Amino acid sequence: MTTEQLGIAQAPSDVHSYAKPAEAVARHLDLDIAVDFDKKVISGKASYQIENLAKGNQIIFDTRGLNIEQVYLGKEQTPTTFRLGDEKKFLGKPLIVDIKPETDYVTIQYSTTANADALQWLNPQQTAGKKHPFLFTQSQAILARTWIPIQDSPGIRITYSAKVQVPKELMAVMSAENPQQKNNTGSYTFEMRQAIPSYLMALSVGDMVFKPIGSQTGIYAEPATIDAAVYEFAEMDKMLVAAEKLYGKYRWDRYDLLVLPPSFPFGGMENPRLTFVTPTVLAKDRSLTSLIAHELAHSWSGNLVTNGTWDDFWLNEGFTVYFERRIMEEIYGKDYADMLNVLGYQDLEHTLEELGSNSDDTRLKLDLEGRDPDEGLTDIAYEKGNFFLQNIERAVGRERFDQFLNKYFQTFAFKSTNTDLFLDFLRTELIKGDEQLAEQINIEGWVYTPGLPDDHKKPTSSRFAQVAAAFNSWKSGKPANQLQTKDWSSHEWLHFIRLLPEQMSQQQMAELDKAFGFSNSGNSEVLAAWFIHTIRNNYTAADKALDKFLTSVGRRKFLVPLYKALITTPTGKKKAQEIYVRAKPNYHAVSTNTLDALLK
Ligand code: BES
Ligand code: ZN
Repeated sequence: MTTEQLGIAQAPSDVHSYAKPAEAVARHLDLDIAVDFDKKVISGKASYQIENLAKGNQIIFDTRGLNIEQVYLGKEQTPTTFRLGDEKKFLGKPLIVDIKPETDYVTIQYSTTANADALQWLNPQQTAGKKHPFLFTQSQAILARTWIPIQDSPGIRITYSAKVQVPKELMAVMSAENPQQKNNTGSYTFEMRQAIPSYLMALSVGDMVFKPIGSQTGIYAEPATIDAAVYEFAEMDKMLVAAEKLYGKYRWDRYDLLVLPPSFPFGGMENPRLTFVTPTVLAKDRSLTSLIAHELAHSWSGNLVTNGTWDDFWLNEGFTVYFERRIMEEIYGKDYADMLNVLGYQDLEHTLEELGSNSDDTRLKLDLEGRDPDEGLTDIAYEKGNFFLQNIERAVGRERFDQFLNKYFQTFAFKSTNTDLFLDFLRTELIKGDEQLAEQINIEGWVYTPGLPDDHKKPTSSRFAQVAAAFNSWKSGKPANQLQTKDWSSHEWLHFIRLLPEQMSQQQMAELDKAFGFSNSGNSEVLAAWFIHTIRNNYTAADKALDKFLTSVGRRKFLVPLYKALITTPTGKKKAQEIYVRAKPNYHAVSTNTLDALLK
């Protein structure tokens, strides 16, 4: 396959973008913006080098809730005419700019509004240091268009440079080459020389410092958080070594982390060169670092080889979960990776149950037309995707599969892919007409059929077998404080808590809490799993801790199950609404959009 055959011209159109890249496409962005914390507005210019492939007279960008003030053509900035089309839910409005056949540069002067869902403006109280405000963006899946007018499709890649003006006492970082120190002008410049899709545009502004881990890796965080983060993520260099050994050279120069305030709505976001992470993985024992392996793995699956549309999301996340587990296996051994696989399988079973295993949304290849892509982004892509790849690995052997994957990354590097392109590659490079193998791999069953294929292999874990043994002896009467739980990691605890019956007596709850201190755990995964039981069993001794968790943490993955558990009873629902009113100012729009619908 030639690179041209894999390029834009072949890409199927993206139903979540107004852009028509086959006609006129952006290649490079020069961003020149100012960040105003008083007004909570970003304003400035987005200038694009464009290619007018069709030599027509318009180019279309995506916008949502932006003020478009003026548009200019050419480096000399001649004003041109433009219009905003009709607003569509989730998608916003197309910005249609009149150009000439020879136009190669377009400048859009704009400002953001209060509706910029990508942005979260934090007041000082919402930060660890409590002294300075903080701003961060979250562009995936289709929110880049709420803070930059952009061709907002993962099938389109641009390089970028940026000039960002921020208040003097703050520092700015982006998904690009970054400063390692604050300067005294508040003016920062950035360069991203590798072409990236729009959902990887990222900016954060706040009081932050940098500390190195290895020569190529390091951490940005608020001064109050940096030391805890340096301890927690000390192994990130090892992860980079392991990842390169598996899939080839890291292609983005540096790999740094930015630890955000707790309202960050995700666990992690793989912004190139600078992964954004939640502080809820700072467990003080390095037990939740598979999240870093995950975001690092995206440097290959996602950032280097990118899902061309959100219907192909499993190509980003399923591959990344598979790689995350491989990195963890490399560093911590198979026993460790087995635990992650079993927990992942449990998540998958739960999602299948919630969606219904006949639901079309349980196919790997999705159909999200007319919907917010956020809706399709479930554990199916992550875990069913992972188990599909593990199934292929089992069928051909690890060595062959690794060779195949390395070739896939090389072939599609800095390109967008999609389910058909991947499956073609699988057929020509691996299956090669072997009918028995094709049957084993079962593309139809995994990719296009709802639910899980009957012949899938359920993962097992020897360390969890010990957890189950301890749990069973508790169930048959052994006191909790006499169980063999020495050396359990947070994964073993999580498994234990998930094994607990739905209905427990106050006495049982109190016994467990006294023996293991769950309500006061410093581990967010343990806390979130335990609170499900305290809510169900009306164990009010944990109410204060639950309240504190819900009003300080903004990570959607934790919030949604907890609020869902609360609203199953009328009293719980009242409690949930009361907490939500207080907690909401602390949540990012990504979380409140989901929770508003749940709690209305
Ligand atoms: N890219 C995702 C986060 C994401 C997905 C944001 C879709 C917006 C839309 C990131 O890599 C991710 O998967 N994060 C997970 C952690 C991971 C260990 C499963 C999360 O945030 O929980
Ligand atoms: Zn991911």
